[in-house]
Amino acid sequence: MKTKFEKNILCIGAGYVGGPTMAMIAYKCPQYKVTTVDINSVRIAEWNSHILPVYEPGLDEIVKAVRGRNLFFSTDIEKGIKESDIIFVSVNTPTKTFGVGAGMAADLQYWEKTARQILECAETPKIIVEKSTLPVKTALAMERILTLNNNKVHFDVLSNPEFLAEGTAVKDLENPDRVLIGSRQTESGLRARDELVEIYAKWVSEERIVTSDIWSSELSKLVANAFLAQRISSINSISALCEKTDADIANVARAIGFDSRIGGEFLNASIGFGGSCFKKDILNLVYLCRHYGLNEVADYWKSVVKINDYQKGRFVFNMLTAMFNTLAEKRICLFGFAFKADTGDTRESPAIFIAKRLIEEKARLVITDPKALKNAKRDLHGIDGKISYIEDPYEAAAGSHAIAIMTEWNIYKDLDFEKIYRSMIKPAFIFDGRNIIDHKRLFEIGFNVFPIGKPALTHFE
Ligand code: NAD
Ligand code: UGA
Repeated sequence: MKTKFEKNILCIGAGYVGGPTMAMIAYKCPQYKVTTVDINSVRIAEWNSHILPVYEPGLDEIVKAVRGRNLFFSTDIEKGIKESDIIFVSVNTPTKTFGVGAGMAADLQYWEKTARQILECAETPKIIVEKSTLPVKTALAMERILTLNNNKVHFDVLSNPEFLAEGTAVKDLENPDRVLIGSRQTESGLRARDELVEIYAKWVSEERIVTSDIWSSELSKLVANAFLAQRISSINSISALCEKTDADIANVARAIGFDSRIGGEFLNASIGFGGSCFKKDILNLVYLCRHYGLNEVADYWKSVVKINDYQKGRFVFNMLTAMFNTLAEKRICLFGFAFKADTGDTRESPAIFIAKRLIEEKARLVITDPKALKNAKRDLHGIDGKISYIEDPYEAAAGSHAIAIMTEWNIYKDLDFEKIYRSMIKPAFIFDGRNIIDHKRLFEIGFNVFPIGKPALTHFE
C-alpha cells in the first residue's frame, strides 16, 4: 500500500543504537516513515510506553515528539521488510562465546538471521545498511546471502557504522563529528550511497558526511574504538606510575593534552573502560589480525585490553592494602554501577569486576546508582555474597567502612560529605575511581582519600 511518506525506512534491532538513531532520523525527516522492529517484544512495548528501555538525556522528548507521527516500533519484522525501501541492520554483534574464535571473534548469528529474513521476505529492491559494528568484509558475506535467490530482488549493501556514545547519544546523533558511508564503487553502489547521503544531509552538513569504499568503512569503526580505548589504557598505565612517584595524573593529562597533536579528550584516568563495545571491538580486531597472520599487530592491540584488566585489578588491590589487608565483613559502598555517567547501561562495567572481587574478599557490598540498579541486580544475580541495593547515596553510605566511586555521576560531586563522614565507620575511606570529588576537602573532613594516579591523602602516621 502506498503511504503519504516519500520513503519507508526500517531498522532491525531496537537497542541502544537502533532506537535513538531511528528516533533522530524520524525527528529530522518528517517526510520519511521510520519503523524500528525487534524480536524482543518487551523492548518494543517499552519503546511504545512512557518509560523507554534506554535512558539517554534528551531522548524522551524526541521520541514523544515523533512517535505515532512518522516513528513506529513494532515486532512485525516481515511486514516491515516488505514495506521498506531502506533497511538499517542494528542487531547485536557480541563476542563469540563458543567454538572457533570464542572470546575474540564477533558472534554473527543474529546478523546472519537478519540477512536471511530479509532475503525471505523482500519483494522489491532494497538498500541494506550495516549499522551494527562488524568485522571487515562482512558486507561480502551479506551480499552472498542476499543473492542466494539468484538475484530475484536487487539489494545494495552499504556500511554506515555508528559512532554515538551512550549518555550523549542525542547530542552525538544531532551533531555528529562525521557520518561515514562505505559503498561498492559500482554504479548501483554509488547510487545507493547517494540515497543514504540524502537522508543524513537533511541535518548534517555535507563536509561531515564522509564516503569511502565499503571495506575501509567497516574497518574504520573497529579502529576508531581501538584508538579511543588505547588512549584510556595509555593514561591508566601512567596513573600507576604517578601513584609510585607522587606525580599527579590530572596534571600530566593536562600538560600532554595541550599539544594539539595529542589533544585533551579521552585522557581521564579511571578504574578502566567499560561498555558493550570497546573490549568486544578490540578483541575482534585482534582476531582479524591473527587471522591474517599479523601476530605483532594483534599483540599490540591486545595489550590495550590487558592494561584495562590490570587497572581494574589494581584498584581492588589498592583498596585491600589501604584497609589493613582485610576487607572481610567490612561494609563497602559502591557509588555508581553504570559503565559511565548518564546511562543505565552496565554492560562490561568495571563495577561488575570490582564488585565480584570485593565479594571474593568477603566484603559486604552496598550498591547505589541513580539509573542502573535494575541492571546491577541482574549482573550480580546468583553471586554468593552479601549485596544490597539502595538508591539514596546517604542511606547507602551510612555504616560503611569505605566508599568506592565507580561512575562519574554529577550527583556524587555535590553530596554533603560531612554528613556522610559522620554516618560512616572510622577510619573512613574513600576510593575515587573517577577522580571527580574534591580530594583535599574530603581529607580535611576526615576521610582517608585514595584517588587514581595521585598521591593518597591519609591521616595515618
Ligand atoms: P542491543 O543489544 O542494545 O540491541 C540489539 C537489538 O537487536 C536487541 O534488542 C535484539 O533483540 C535485536 N535483535 C537481535 N537479533 C534480531 C533479529 N534477528 N531480528 C530483530 N531484532 C534482533 O545492541 P546495541 O548496543 O544497540 O548495539 C547494536 C550494534 O551497534 C552492535 O554491533 C554494536 O557494536 C554497535 N554499536 C553500539 C553502540 C552503543 O553505544 N551501544 C555504539 C555504536 C555501535
Ligand atoms: C564508545 C565510543 O566513544 C563511541 O564513539 C562508539 O560509537 C561506541 O563506543 C560504540 O561503538 O559502542 P561508549 O562506550 O558508549 O562509546 O562510551 P565512551 O564515552 O566511549 O566511554 C567508554 C568507557 O571509557 C566508559 O567506561 C568511560 O567511563 C571510559 N572512559 C572514557 C574513561 O575511563 N576515560 C576517558 O577519558 C573516557
